[in-house]
Amino acid sequence: MEDKLWAGRFSKETAAAVDRYNRSIAYDSRMYPEDIAGSMAHAAMLARQGVISAEDGQAIRHGLESILKDLDSGALTIDPEAEDIHTFIEAELTRRIHDAGKRLHTGRSRNDQVATDFKLYLKHRTAEIGSLLADLIRETLDQAQKECRTILPGYTHLQRAQPITLGHHLCAYAHMLLRDLWRLQDWKQRNDSCPLGAGALATSTYPIDREMTARELGFARVATNSLDAVGDRDYAVELVSDLAMLMLHLSRWSEEMILWSSQEFHFVELDDAYSTGSSIMPQKKNPDVAELTRGKSARVIGSLNTLMVMLKGLPLAYNKDLQEDKEATFDALDTVAACLPAFTGMLATAGWQRETMRAAAARGFTNATDLADYLVKKGLPFRDAHHIVGHLVAVCSSRRCGLEDLSLEELQEACGLIADDVYPALDLNQLVEKRNLPGGPAPAAVMADIQVLSQRLEALQFSALN
Ligand code: ARG
Repeated sequence: MEDKLWAGRFSKETAAAVDRYNRSIAYDSRMYPEDIAGSMAHAAMLARQGVISAEDGQAIRHGLESILKDLDSGALTIDPEAEDIHTFIEAELTRRIHDAGKRLHTGRSRNDQVATDFKLYLKHRTAEIGSLLADLIRETLDQAQKECRTILPGYTHLQRAQPITLGHHLCAYAHMLLRDLWRLQDWKQRNDSCPLGAGALATSTYPIDREMTARELGFARVATNSLDAVGDRDYAVELVSDLAMLMLHLSRWSEEMILWSSQEFHFVELDDAYSTGSSIMPQKKNPDVAELTRGKSARVIGSLNTLMVMLKGLPLAYNKDLQEDKEATFDALDTVAACLPAFTGMLATAGWQRETMRAAAARGFTNATDLADYLVKKGLPFRDAHHIVGHLVAVCSSRRCGLEDLSLEELQEACGLIADDVYPALDLNQLVEKRNLPGGPAPAAVMADIQVLSQRLEALQFSALN
């Protein structure tokens, strides 16, 4: 019972099953650097405020520094039977510096301690993920620039619709990912407040300097209301929601890469280094990176659900249920951090099959809208033009040819307004070049979009990661 921080009022040992059930050390031990940083800031503040002596403050600092060094080097291993990382470090500190160690927890509770550690940890991981995401966006923009003239069919309902450029298509993903990065920056701004000093729920009677510890730990401000500071997990829900949205985008893109790398499409040949084989079928080359990304998006969405359901019935302030926040959040972070470099590598090495894409755009009547527009420019109302072209599409379908393969006489039979300037109007390159509105597929419009996206990326990267 001696090893429990809270054993004083108990007359029986905790049942072994409860000990096992209660402990969170297996997953919260990863927060040891943040736990030590939080304790150092707290102890320095206690000493400055005269709550503990300067000597005890020094001893605590040196003790914590040596624990950090030993944990980093592996000289000290974490006891898997400790209740949690906070308990383990406090016990180890007391083992090393005796009574001074027992003074560390003055004016503090594990409730404000764990919230502080968790927020610090999430800030670090969010910066890491922000930088991995920025790498992916940069790669996407590089590819978009290289492929700004590559023509492929754009789809609606997965049916060929109108010709676009690969640069245009890739920029669509760059927009989604940039919004994801923006959300991470936004997350940091809103949640950059320090719970330390909130105590168990009602602060304390010591002259705790909350501004000092917040500043010391790099938080922008203090999380003021103490009930909210220890009971709040909005920051975990928000972050995992942002990660779920990111995975949702990557999952949609993955679905497309899987389709495109099939022999049926063959718009892309994935690099051998980013593909896997089959144990039985010697010919197979599988798009596992994309499939895993699509599959793992489920875990992150699941974590978001776990967090929201865990929180929805909790009265103020701390409840032990909150311990369940960590595994769900950590799993979401680990999943995204593993996914991003693999996905970026897959994209960077993708072999775009330009001929196949162009050939696909040349079939499937992707120029039908343009023939109708041609007739409108000759004076026909759009609805009539649509009808005439629909009829020509039916003729071509049965003859298995394109609109541009019909002779001028055949075209004129359908509508007397058609002249031989119709053929250039049906040419794929021209169709794409002419869609030059802001945000359109024309190479010039794509290049302009890339420039705006790059500027926004630089601006966001700076504020998201600092
Ligand atoms: N391991 C606990 C958690 O993760 C630490 C806080 C414990 N607080 C308490 N009042 N029992 O939530």
